[in-house]
Amino acid sequence: MEKSMTKEHLRLDCSKISGFIGEGEVESLYPQAEEAYKALRAGTCPGNDFLGWLDLPLQITEKDLDEIEETAAALRARTQVLVVIGIGGSYLGARAVIEALSNSFHAYDPAAMQVIFAGHNISEDYYHELEEFLADKEFGICVISKSGTTTEPAIAFRLLRELLERKVGREEACRRIVAITDASKGALRTLADQEGYKTFVIPDNVGGRFSVLTPVGLLPIAVAGFNIRELVAGAVEMRALCMEGARNRAVEYAMSRIALYRKGYVVELLANFHPKLHYMTEWWKQLYGESEGKEHKGIFPAGVDFTTDLHSMGQYIQDGRRMLMETVITVENADYKVVIPHDDANLDKLNFLAGKRVDEVNKMAELGTRLAHVDGGVPNMQVIIPVLNAFYIGELIYFFEFACGVSGNLLQVNPFDQPGVEAYKNNMFALLDKPGYEEASRAIREKLGQK
Ligand code: PA5
Repeated sequence: MEKSMTKEHLRLDCSKISGFIGEGEVESLYPQAEEAYKALRAGTCPGNDFLGWLDLPLQITEKDLDEIEETAAALRARTQVLVVIGIGGSYLGARAVIEALSNSFHAYDPAAMQVIFAGHNISEDYYHELEEFLADKEFGICVISKSGTTTEPAIAFRLLRELLERKVGREEACRRIVAITDASKGALRTLADQEGYKTFVIPDNVGGRFSVLTPVGLLPIAVAGFNIRELVAGAVEMRALCMEGARNRAVEYAMSRIALYRKGYVVELLANFHPKLHYMTEWWKQLYGESEGKEHKGIFPAGVDFTTDLHSMGQYIQDGRRMLMETVITVENADYKVVIPHDDANLDKLNFLAGKRVDEVNKMAELGTRLAHVDGGVPNMQVIIPVLNAFYIGELIYFFEFACGVSGNLLQVNPFDQPGVEAYKNNMFALLDKPGYEEASRAIREKLGQK
């Protein structure tokens, strides 16, 4: 899509880290950040075979969007529930955007199209309850796996495909299943081709956690009824801002967090004051955790939902061990207006708030929290979007992705691989006696003292 002229953009405010860091300490990273920026753009950085996300927003064509929207419309016409099967990067982006844009009580609306998730856990109870829930629903499946071989989604797909085929027959099931996977490799590709499912391709050069702006994210988001063109437009705008030069907001965020990390702030809390952003934080945690946590290095990404977690984690953040930095996502304007009423009895002593909007109270809670945390020794950064809509979510996604690419380079790790995620899989396969794991199986059983 092409860049359009637009109004305001996402902003970054790092002024509240100045007391924690010597003058010039962020700036001293600039030469390295500029190198990282140039290497990203020139495609010469580590992991350069996974840089497809950089130009992705520009490369999405009208035809691509039309095809996704048509497929979404067909699924909506045939079903009342879409089960999106995937894990990690094949799950979190779609869920983050859908939750950010949905009505808070959408799940309780029996007339509304529901997008629900599976394949992101291996809980037997979850699958029992999911099958029970789906038993009397017209449902479809969108199965997403880049490798096409990941165990969790493969189990979910086997269970739900069987349920769907039993319920509506193989032919109708085929019309209700969409697979998003590699162009040619993997078990899911083989199965999809064999069964004749509608498929979309995840480009080779886009890693899972950077794939939300491919059909991986766009199809479920479109099925949920949201404007994927606006989402992509936001990413296009942020890309243009990032491409203007190395002095941009994403690079500034990357430099600021790495400068703080080098001072011992090894945990970054992404905080929101808007419950719809909970899964954006989950997406961000994967993006940074999987990209940076390597070679015994990396900022540990954690998340908090405020003011909820001020009543659980607030104590630690204010007074616990000093290793935290905090990045607050501020949504400047609420969509709706709710005013706190006057009460003559005033038993709750709340009349000092009468006539004020709930959002005004929330904003004062936000400012009060940021100031308190800074006073308590937690450096604070702020990412500001004017409203919570598809356009600004698109800006937010590209901003964090670009900053992640630079930040990983500043840490001198390859931000685009994830070798560490294999360790648990190898043990699990050995313990489950997967063919090919005989030696590992013997070794692990010996370690456990089993025969
Ligand atoms: O970001 C990543 O690469 C991972 O989180 C993957 O997305 C995740 O492991 C799922 O992999 P796949 O899409 O191959 O099933």
